Amino acid sequence: MRKVLVLNGPNLGRLGSREPEIYGTLNFAELVAQVTEVASEMGMSADVRQTDSEAELIHWLHEAVDSGSDVIINPAAFTHYSYSIRDAAALVTKSGLKLIEVHISNPHSRESFRHTSVISAVATGVITGLGLKGYLLALGAIV
Ligand code: DQA
Repeated sequence: MRKVLVLNGPNLGRLGSREPEIYGTLNFAELVAQVTEVASEMGMSADVRQTDSEAELIHWLHEAVDSGSDVIINPAAFTHYSYSIRDAAALVTKSGLKLIEVHISNPHSRESFRHTSVISAVATGVITGLGLKGYLLALGAIV
């Protein structure tokens, strides 16, 4: 069965209560439930995780390479400045695995510091601004 790691960066554990006008009202547990269910309907197994730690996210990207798992990643604020997450993301795509970058909001319609993604150039594809549905669309890009 195809495995996908669905990785979420800082503050995304606060979904539901964090700026609901931007990120919606569903909480992280509800995101996990939706992604896991849709992945299994598509014949995949999704492992959905969240961390506030840059190092942990990097280790999970290494794990994806070592276990041959495709990746869906919302790097959250790390998107805009973390070269170490970019380098780890490049390891995933250079090993032939897919890495889809997802953002719940549309960063391009927000503050200018959000307009830059240091990850996108090494991602297979990018989905932004479609809410939590973006994760489900990313599954469709992997299946
Ligand atoms: C985000 C957008 C980022 O700019 C922000 O720092 C986040 C979430 C999104 O999903 O829209 O934490 O990645």
